[in-house]
Amino acid sequence: MTVGTKEIVGILGRDIISVFYENNIVLSKEAYEYILEEKIDIEALRGYIEYLQEKNMHIAEKSSLLDIYLPKMKEKNFKFEKKETILDKITEEKIEVSIKSRDIPARDTDPEIKILKKIETDSEGNFEDFLETFRDRYEKISRIFRERVNIRDFQNISTIKKGENVKVVGMVRKKLNAKTKNVILTIEDFSGVTKVFISRKSSINTDMIFEDEVICVEGKCGGNIIYAQNIEFPDIPLVREVNRSEIDVYSVLISDLHVGSKMFLEKEFLRFLKWLNLKIGDEKQKHTASKIKYLIIAGDVIDGIGIYPNQKKDLEILSVYDQYKKLYELLSLVPDYIQIIISPGNHDVARPAIPQLPIPKEFAPDLYDMNNVLMVGNPAFFSVHNVKILVYHGDTIFDIIEKIRVPQSDVVSPMIQMLKKRHLGPMYGKKTGMIPERKDHLVIEEVPDVLHMGHVHVNGYTVYRGTTLINSGTWQAQTEYQVLRNMIPTPCRVPIFNLKTHKTMITNFG
Ligand SMILES: [Fe+2]
Repeated sequence: MTVGTKEIVGILGRDIISVFYENNIVLSKEAYEYILEEKIDIEALRGYIEYLQEKNMHIAEKSSLLDIYLPKMKEKNFKFEKKETILDKITEEKIEVSIKSRDIPARDTDPEIKILKKIETDSEGNFEDFLETFRDRYEKISRIFRERVNIRDFQNISTIKKGENVKVVGMVRKKLNAKTKNVILTIEDFSGVTKVFISRKSSINTDMIFEDEVICVEGKCGGNIIYAQNIEFPDIPLVREVNRSEIDVYSVLISDLHVGSKMFLEKEFLRFLKWLNLKIGDEKQKHTASKIKYLIIAGDVIDGIGIYPNQKKDLEILSVYDQYKKLYELLSLVPDYIQIIISPGNHDVARPAIPQLPIPKEFAPDLYDMNNVLMVGNPAFFSVHNVKILVYHGDTIFDIIEKIRVPQSDVVSPMIQMLKKRHLGPMYGKKTGMIPERKDHLVIEEVPDVLHMGHVHVNGYTVYRGTTLINSGTWQAQTEYQVLRNMIPTPCRVPIFNLKTHKTMITNFG
């Protein structure tokens, strides 16, 4: 041991992560590994955190620990005194207001939920099913292209003739990046197959072309090849009238609770529930809470069991039945006039590949018994108070992040790509398991007003061509797995969407 403080042998990684998390300091992978290796005790780490805070530093790097803090500690025989944290200062109980005595518009408003699309499973997983999925994908997306004025006259691949200017809609069977930096695609429709040559000198951004997606190619036909001049994606319309609620009601969008995990932030989640019950917050915040009619959850409501190797050591609750029971206990604290819509994620007890059916009743009977709970699949498409909401856990988002080369903290760029491609998982079966249903349930046939996702554990939102894109973040603190991969979650931030004005606001319960 190189540090002049008492040694605690066998310190657990999660305790290290927690102490940094509680103080809003991001712990780098290198620093974490060094702390574990050197068995630096919690008391010393608290001193280090205090040192970082004094210097207004928000990231714990190995270099600052090794080169600056530890030598200072040795010199000064540092003593730590626990400071009161933000959590300690909360005086929630002192500002309780009786919910019955208030005017609560959401309580006096009837719910308006319409299911717009249901997932029906009919796959046997055979070759025909795969073929049907892709046929259905092509049909649906080529129909979207037919609606576009400048593209609707596209032709079949079998009819293109050498020397002519052509316009075809095809599925990308293969994408070849040549050494010369030119790109050669193989695309197909129901009538035939052709190659497409995209010169490195053209302005077409070939990084954004994915295998298995359906695109429109315009160019000059040179026999069995089209020399591309333009590539179009189906996209959503540039301008359209969005659907709105006539009255001022709100929807809260959350995901990735991971109930059952030792890192589930129960204290913070309870604070959120208190706010829904108008028991905490200032008058403005309570006024907002009084208009919340829907709580929409985009998957990973529990942590599950056996989702990754050695998950058991990270679990507080070791049975999925008990994890759902615990979730039930929490959600039963939501005011009963708020409608709760639950879609599953990859940690839930639904089938592991997408599309997923709703969480089966046998695992969560109490949730099914709640009058204000509606279980839906993943993805799920429904409207609340006229506003069309597409909920998808986001299983394929990491495939897209990798492809378009954006950081994991940029959760909205891959969501924009999904809308541009009118598909939630354009590349078939990369890191994400997909079930070949006879219908491709991942095609975005109808333009949603809101696309709500989770999975990345990072909160973010934007508006793209009138559609609000929200990734709701998480209620799980940074896990050891995430520390080792430099993934920095943003837990406890709750997006609140006004169904009338389409304005989004974020409230932080952390
Ligand atoms: Fe998750």
